[in-house]
Amino acid sequence: MRECARSARADLQKHPMMAAFTQGTLSNEQLCEFVASRYEAAIGFVDLLRACVEKSTEQIETGNTHLIPLLREAQHNLDDELGIANGVQCVEANHETWRIKCYGSMGVDAVAAVTGIIPCTANLLNLGTAGWLKRFGTPFQIAGAILFIELMVPHEFDCIRSALYRAFPESFVDKPGDHTETLARKAEARQYLDKHILTDARHHGPDLLDALDEAVQTHEQLEQVLSGIRLMAGGRLEFYNEHARQFGIMD
Ligand SMILES: [Fe+2]
Repeated sequence: MRECARSARADLQKHPMMAAFTQGTLSNEQLCEFVASRYEAAIGFVDLLRACVEKSTEQIETGNTHLIPLLREAQHNLDDELGIANGVQCVEANHETWRIKCYGSMGVDAVAAVTGIIPCTANLLNLGTAGWLKRFGTPFQIAGAILFIELMVPHEFDCIRSALYRAFPESFVDKPGDHTETLARKAEARQYLDKHILTDARHHGPDLLDALDEAVQTHEQLEQVLSGIRLMAGGRLEFYNEHARQFGIMD
């Protein structure tokens, strides 16, 4: 499982778009186009977590109690995503709020940008994949897809972060003499990327791997996790290929 996730992640880590982010070769306009599209790519994630919770619960109710660690981790991740602590939702802790603030600080109204347009092919496929997983996928397939995202985000967001902070310093980077309100605004703009990098690297990725180690009991279940990883990794690779071609980085 770890080897499959590692090799799928390595393909994306080497992607020319990651180098373009870290080397600062994309224009501000291209970065704005990219984040609107990346916002769209993130839309189905909460639904995947919800589907994993629901399908794990169904399995546990029919006696498959070995899925309890997976249910616990998926529920914990879903609560984090929605900003729920001790059963109470806080809008300010909802990751959707963070995302909108981060991209909004670049002047991108992500919600408006993805409404009423034809999405890029990779996002269309991604939404279709998420819809398929929700309807037909097993808890293990869905968990594999979630696992790939959690393991990829720290590197992916670290690259994106270096591009955004360099291109939009007024939105993200503190400077001497900044007023308290300016510092607070920049901290709010940074939290989506900064907190995801930390949380996914320290908790969501490793904790889901541990939960799957406990929950997976058969070769078939392991294959399902691996198919979920490959499904999501293929989708993300196509997403980056499409943007690389759009920005003239790849033929
Ligand atoms: Fe996460």
